[in-house]
Amino acid sequence: MRSASTVVKVQTELLPPRQYDPLPSIWDGEDSELLEKMLQFYPKVEPRNILDATVNSGRFWRNSSREVLGLDINPQCRPDLLGTSQSLPLKSNSFDVVVYDPPHVPNQGKDRQKDFGIRFGLGAKSSIETNYSFSYTYPPFVSEAHRVLRHDGVLFCKITDYVHNHKFQWAHIDFIQAATEAGFHACDCIIKIRKGPIIDTRWKVAHHARKQHCYWLVFRKSHRCE
Ligand SMILES: C[S@@+](CC[C@H](N)C(=O)[O-])C[C@H]1O[C@@H](n2cnc3c(N)ncnc32)[C@H](O)[C@@H]1O
Repeated sequence: MRSASTVVKVQTELLPPRQYDPLPSIWDGEDSELLEKMLQFYPKVEPRNILDATVNSGRFWRNSSREVLGLDINPQCRPDLLGTSQSLPLKSNSFDVVVYDPPHVPNQGKDRQKDFGIRFGLGAKSSIETNYSFSYTYPPFVSEAHRVLRHDGVLFCKITDYVHNHKFQWAHIDFIQAATEAGFHACDCIIKIRKGPIIDTRWKVAHHARKQHCYWLVFRKSHRCE
């Protein structure tokens, strides 16, 4: 990863006309592998300046040769840049790609045993005032992502819907709405499936399908996608 001061070069190199190499809309592999495919598929210029705005320990970039500036609010993650993605200490129009994987589901089912608190930022809380969801954090982030991206730059967001307190939380719809209002064009959606759904023996009666997928959403800072 790199320091904030090295990410301001102007990048104008256009990619050569690409051969058609289809990207599947359903993915059951690793995020890191999919992300590399997305980085080869969507940007119009070879992406040099990449910001991961919720980097955690950098799992997305394991085995990647990409230089990525990783930001996180949690000092335990030892990010390149410590801070909030809702107020980025970065120059406007300076990134080709922003990646965002916000905090999501409260620990549920067997996953309660896992270290999700540290891995996924679940220390974050949402109260009844914010409807037990993290959607209120999306508008300030997308506004900042839009500012730091160059024209035609892309935003990749991994996002999960979930059921909380017997209510379906439509996180991906809230995110699309916030990003569109910030000026992004919503361009694509890839469904990522997990090995199995989250099950908890406390849930005696199911009223919702058990979530076994999340989304990778693709946005462009442009009035059109292509
Ligand atoms: C779902 S995890 C990201 C996991 C990461 N993509 C990975 O694969 O390792 C969410 C991360 O967002 C961070 N986070 C939560 N609120 C934040 C904020 N306001 N600004 C920046 N990072 C934040 C958490 O500390 C956590 O590391």
